[in-house]
Formats: sequence, C-alpha cells, structure tokens
Amino acid sequence: QSTKCSDSVRASRFVDKNRLWNRHMEMAAIGAIPGNGVNRQALSLEDIAARKLLISWAAARHYEIAMDGIGNLFVRRTGNEPELAPVMTGSHMDSQPMGGRFDGIYGVLAGLEIMEALDEAGVQTRRPIDLVAWTNEEGSRFAPGAMGSMVFTGSRPLDDFLGVKDQNGITLSDALADTIAAIPNCASHEFATPVAAYVEAHIEQGPLLEQSGSTIGVVTGIQGFRWFNVEVTGEAAHAGTTPISLRRDALQTAVACISALNALIREETDTLRFTIGRLDVTPNTPNTVPCRAAFSIDLRHPDQVVLERVGDLVEATCRTACIRCAVKVTEIATRSPCVFNPSMVDSVEEAAARLGLPSMRMPSGAFHDALFMHEICPTGMVFVPCEKGISHNPAENAAPDDLVAGARVLLATLVELANA
Ligand code: GLV
Ligand code: MN
Ligand code: MN
Ligand code: MN
Repeated sequence: QSTKCSDSVRASRFVDKNRLWNRHMEMAAIGAIPGNGVNRQALSLEDIAARKLLISWAAARHYEIAMDGIGNLFVRRTGNEPELAPVMTGSHMDSQPMGGRFDGIYGVLAGLEIMEALDEAGVQTRRPIDLVAWTNEEGSRFAPGAMGSMVFTGSRPLDDFLGVKDQNGITLSDALADTIAAIPNCASHEFATPVAAYVEAHIEQGPLLEQSGSTIGVVTGIQGFRWFNVEVTGEAAHAGTTPISLRRDALQTAVACISALNALIREETDTLRFTIGRLDVTPNTPNTVPCRAAFSIDLRHPDQVVLERVGDLVEATCRTACIRCAVKVTEIATRSPCVFNPSMVDSVEEAAARLGLPSMRMPSGAFHDALFMHEICPTGMVFVPCEKGISHNPAENAAPDDLVAGARVLLATLVELANA
C-alpha cells in the first residue's frame, strides 16, 4: 500500500505544466472566437480537428485508440493485467457556441497528461487506464447534452438521438457519419470491458474554490436536471392588416408562457435553477405575425422531489397561459441528482491530502458525463478553480498551476484505483 502511494506521489511530479498549458492553447486555436473564447460544437469540423489533434498526441505514445457508435473517442494506456476492467478518466472536447478554453477540454488533456506522466515516471498500473472524450456533452448544437455518456452507459439508445437536428436542419446521424468517416481506423473496434471506476477532472465553473482559497474541489455529487422543448404554433399573418384580436401570434403566446413559468419559479427558493436559453421564432421577420415560437427549458435542483414537483408543472403552466395557439411540451432528457460513492469522494480527498493541496468538498451545479457514469461504476470528480467562476463565456480562464494541481490529484487518484 505505502509503495503504491509513494509511487503515485512521485509520478504526479512528472505532470508537465508547459505541455499541459500549451496543449490547451493548441486546442483553443481550433474554433477560436474573439475574446479568448472557443466555438467547437459537437461533430463540427472543429470537433473533428480537435479529435485528430488528440489522436496525434496519443498515437505518438502508441496508445490504443478506439471510437464507439456515437463517436465517443477512447485512448488506452494498457496495464500489467490488460484483461482487467480499466479505470477511466476524461471529459468532452465540444464547447458552447460562445464557450471558453477550459470547459471539458481540461478533463481530456489532464487525462492524456497523466498517462504521459506515468510513462515518464516509469510507472505501470495493474489495470489499463482509459481516456475518453465524450461526444456532445454540451447539447448546444444537438440537444440534449451528455449524449455520448448516456448512450455509453445504456441510459438512452443511440436511436433516440439520430434524428435530432441542429439549427441548420442537419441531423445528428449525418454529422456523426461525417465525423466517423473523417477519423479512419478508430471505429473499427470498441473496448468491450466494463469500467472499474471513473474520475473526471473539470474546471469548477463557479466561484467557490477561488473564494475559499482551496485549489482542489472534491465533488460530492451532481444536481439533477430536466430539459424541455416548448413549441407554440399559431398562424402567420400580415402585420399591417391583421387586427390584434384576430391574430394567433405564436411569439406573444410564448412570452405569456414564459411569464407564467417565471411566476411559478418565483415561488421556489433560489436553489432552483431555471433557464430559457434558446428562442426560435418563425418566420422571424418584422412584418409577419410569427406562426411558430419554440423555446428551451433547463431546470435543475439538487433535490429530486423539488425537480419532479416543479418540472411536472411546466406543461400545465404553459397550457394555461396559451392563447389562441397550440402548445406542445416535450421533455427531452432528465436525470435525478446523484451522490457519489463515499469511497470515491474519500479517494480524491486523500489524493489531494497526500500531495499537500488544500481541498474542499462541494456539489456540482453543472452536469457532467460523470452524472451518467455514476450509474455504471464508482465515480468521482476533481474540480479546479476558474477565474471569478466565469464559464460558458469566452472570458473563461484558469491558472496553469491550478490545472497542474488538478492533474496531479487525478493521477494520484487513478493510480490507486488502477492498482486496486
Ligand atoms: C453542461 O455544460 C451543463 O450545462 O451543466
Ligand atoms: Mn463541461
Ligand atoms: Mn459546458
Ligand atoms: Mn457541462
């Protein structure tokens, strides 16, 4: 036991700050947008370029590479007992359309970094270590998010998602086929083994670590979410000639629905998160009464009872507010809150302590692929601070030393799990 511990602490010193930082900057150049941000949406040309770059780094180390049916990309550093279930780490490489340089990609690059650090430290593990880049975690191009991990864990079949369209009418099925075709020789096989444990590193995306002065967030669980699409259908009409009393204005009705939903949300405590982030209006022209208005709802809460109660009121609230139009409410994804296995929380916390890094326990307000992996194996997460807690914003920023600290904790945690 003590040999293993000192091995992981020693190996963690091989995490290379410059390599890790420079790779973030290389990735950030793919889909760069003004203000230091990134637009690298799922299964786009930018996503393909990011996958190729990751594969080039992994291939230089002769790691095994695989891709599954929804395009989740896997990189394996084998173990002394290669047939054992691997321990897995990773996150996502897609971003929001106005996203930052660290959300998701940090967990992928930290995972690759620890494999290379282990190589350089000459440390072998009993189990293989698998790095995964999950497809479409963000859900900004194809809703819902976390599709890759939902399919991998069997929470949803791939068929549920193939027909989902982006705002240009491109189906997930077509975008996926293009991505798989652009990355030859990977989709040939999958790693078929079950997963022994999963640990994901991520920027915190909130201000708590920075405020507390702690370097490592030991994540205790993830709040639940429900995603809905609301579609209001009215009738297109001439803006100059149609009396207001005769209109079936889909946008005005959507606004009434949104006001009623806001009134519902105001009854709750501010622990509840409620976001309408997308509004599509058809035909979206100044002088036609809109015939269609569709909006998204992202609802989150750490307590399943509240999530169910409030979420179950969404449809009735919209129906009651609907005037002279049709309203259709569709729940496109949901997940109950999860509490990570205490032994995984302890593992991350102990790894931070062994490395002398100040840590604090905290729940995650954002969802992550870890929320779904929790269903199939012991799962944990490591958070690192991000500047002012800003995320889903081009200004998202993180300090190189904090990224290194998180990668070291990830390495120390995974090595213990991989030798168990
Ligand atoms: C994932 O990006 C989330 O919205 O939590
Ligand atoms: Mn993320
Ligand atoms: Mn995100
Ligand atoms: Mn996310």
